[in-house]
Amino acid sequence: MDKRIFEQGQTLWSVLDTAIDGIIIINERGIIQIVNQAVEKMFDYHAQEIISKNISMLMPSPDHERHDSYLSNHIRTGEAKIIGIGREVTALAKSGKTFPIRLAVSEVFINDNRYFTGILHDLSAQKHAEEQLLNLTYELENKVQLRTEELGEVVNKLLSVNKQLQTEIAERIEIERELKINEEKMQILLDREKELNQMKSRFVSMASHEFRTPLSTILSSAALIDKYVLEGQQDKRSKHVYKIKNAVTNLTNILNDFLSLEKLEEGLVGTKMEVIHVNSFCQELVEEMNSILKQGQRIELICLDNEMEIVSDTRCLYNSMINLMSNAIKYSDEDQVIRFEIQLQEDIIEFKIKDDGIGIPADEQSKLFTRFYRARNATNIQGTGLGLHIVSRYMDLIGGNVRFKSDEGVGSEFTLEIPL
Ligand SMILES: Nc1ncnc2c1ncn2[C@@H]1O[C@H](COP(=O)(O)OP(=O)(O)OP(=O)(O)O)[C@@H](O)[C@H]1O
Ligand SMILES: [Mg+2]
Repeated sequence: MDKRIFEQGQTLWSVLDTAIDGIIIINERGIIQIVNQAVEKMFDYHAQEIISKNISMLMPSPDHERHDSYLSNHIRTGEAKIIGIGREVTALAKSGKTFPIRLAVSEVFINDNRYFTGILHDLSAQKHAEEQLLNLTYELENKVQLRTEELGEVVNKLLSVNKQLQTEIAERIEIERELKINEEKMQILLDREKELNQMKSRFVSMASHEFRTPLSTILSSAALIDKYVLEGQQDKRSKHVYKIKNAVTNLTNILNDFLSLEKLEEGLVGTKMEVIHVNSFCQELVEEMNSILKQGQRIELICLDNEMEIVSDTRCLYNSMINLMSNAIKYSDEDQVIRFEIQLQEDIIEFKIKDDGIGIPADEQSKLFTRFYRARNATNIQGTGLGLHIVSRYMDLIGGNVRFKSDEGVGSEFTLEIPL
């Protein structure tokens, strides 16, 4: 086959020669017959350098070595591996560089000679673009991965900050709770202080009133004693000395009441438990009380067991009984008997002080142990209204109890219950 055949189709060839895809025609032995300009450009060969050479020179291994056998196989068996199919193969340029091409091969017979026409489409640009796309995708994936990791870190940081915050919040709540408790404690102390102050000022105003009567009694009795100078007036002098003594006792009682209450309220009173011989303890008490009895009054002590002993706080017990006893004296008339009974119950000892005095109005009995409370039938008799309150506080201290029953105009019975 020579070029003459193609010269006749000059026009046709110029079309093929300038086609964008490469065109190579080889004979059945694989020898290149003709190539167009695109092939020259693609492989960087001049046409003269490759025409009449084996097409395998444009292929890298292993096609380079195997192409001849591809051809002879095809011619022998007629089996088409590439002809009429077209596929992607690797081409080898003059420089030794390989590049991808899409190859479509067709078979043609001219004057009983077999030729193969290959149309080559350079895939370098497409491959490059694909590679770039791949790279970009890869980069993108990397970036996404990086960002995901960064995001993860940020989330982790946030989580730990969150945890820290939660701990801080919990700590603050705890501190606030403690503050609140402290505040409540302070409030209680403050309230107590306030109450104590109120009590003191109330006492001062009450005392200034209560002190007036005994003080004027003392003054007038002293003035009268001064006048009773004659021998035969001893009776009168004695009467006024008695009045003075009584008034002084009153004053002392008021002061004692207040001082013991103040100590009790401030929690300054402690207890000292000791063995008390009941009978002698009560007799001593009665003796002391005898000095403040009204005209004709007497205390009847009834203690069946002479040897009875208890363990308690002497002072608490003594002060409580003095309070009850002085009430019985104060709120009953001259010539009356005050009974002082000691009774042993199962696990308590009872000290009962009974009088036939003015009694307590039923509707006022529930308020009797309140500080400064005084029943309406007692207002013309001296008193501060602190005595029974103090007794109940003493009972709290030694684990005892005070109860009473009373009928107005008939009399009262106060009982101290002391645990054995
Ligand atoms: N034996 C009693 N008979 C009648 N009333 C009583 C008797 N004991 C107490 N009371 C009533 O109870 C009130 C409170 O008694 P409390 O001993 O606390 O105070 P007070 O006797 O008035 O004063 P003080 O502080 O001087 O004892 C009295 O004011 C009186 O009304
Ligand atoms: Mg009293």
